[in-house]
Amino acid sequence: MTAASVLVTRRLPARAMEQLSGLDVEVWPGETAMPRADLLRAVAGKDAMITLLTERVDDELLDAAGEGLVIVANYAVGYDNIDVDACTRRGIMVSNTPDVLTDATADMAWALLMAAARRVAEGDRFLRAGPEWVWGPEMMLGQDVHHRTLGIVGYGRIGQAVAARASGFAMEVLWFDPLVPSDAVLPGRRCETLDELLGASDFVSLHVSLSAGTHHLINAERLRQMRPTAVLVNAARGPVVDEAALAEALDTGVIFAAGLDVYEREPEVDARLRANPRAVLAPHLGSATVDTRDAMGKVAVTNVRAALQGEHPPTLVNPAVWGSPSRRRPRAGR
Ligand code: GLV
Ligand code: GLV
Repeated sequence: MTAASVLVTRRLPARAMEQLSGLDVEVWPGETAMPRADLLRAVAGKDAMITLLTERVDDELLDAAGEGLVIVANYAVGYDNIDVDACTRRGIMVSNTPDVLTDATADMAWALLMAAARRVAEGDRFLRAGPEWVWGPEMMLGQDVHHRTLGIVGYGRIGQAVAARASGFAMEVLWFDPLVPSDAVLPGRRCETLDELLGASDFVSLHVSLSAGTHHLINAERLRQMRPTAVLVNAARGPVVDEAALAEALDTGVIFAAGLDVYEREPEVDARLRANPRAVLAPHLGSATVDTRDAMGKVAVTNVRAALQGEHPPTLVNPAVWGSPSRRRPRAGR
């Protein structure tokens, strides 16, 4: 028996790599995203692949993989990099890494919220420049966080975890999410429209997944509905915000500040955002803790192993494939 083959598009934390032992693993050793040409070549004949959000999984890639590929296990909770319909049509399973990164991502959204409200990154840069300075009553004033209103757009696992943290700050929580059933009982006050939430919030934190319906959900008009003292936080996906409109809004004082973990054309970061001290910028670190990245690796590998044994992967994102006669089976003799 030959071991099943797995392509891992970027070295994962050591714990996750160890969990792949016994499989025939090919890992891209580079420190950048795997170049497309290498990816198309390396995927040929593989039984499974572990992808990152830097890889576009589309018809071209699936064609290059061939008939043996049974699962694409994304090392992320979001999977907008994957054409899930194309996978489903071919009977290929797709999995993600939900739950294990919920708290780390919620913590990161809060880190950005606090840093933007209290000008932490700006203050840090100020001191590093070695200026003469003295404490002053009006120096670098920010916005209160406590007792203010937090508006959460997208009230899934991460949005709710961000909301839970607000109770320690005695904040009022508003949320907007058309995907939550109308009879659901969840903490905070539901807003029927996004406009209502934007006008009533001091902090707006985005926790929707990226889809055609959420692309540029926050645009110039929506930014103008926010308060001039408001802070926008995006730890979801860059294209949910019209980045040029946000840069303009920050430059012209339409809103107070923004805390961003994600960008519209990652890894590119808009030059105007980089130049604006009110933008707090992090390089997509939402799930970037030692324990969380280990846990994500474990989930991805568990999904791969299940699929290769003909079992139901625990976090399948296209469950329609499971009961379908076209679902690909692991190759015989493996
Ligand atoms: C990261 O952005 C993820 O979706 O896990
Ligand atoms: C500030 O440091 C204060 O003591 O008020």
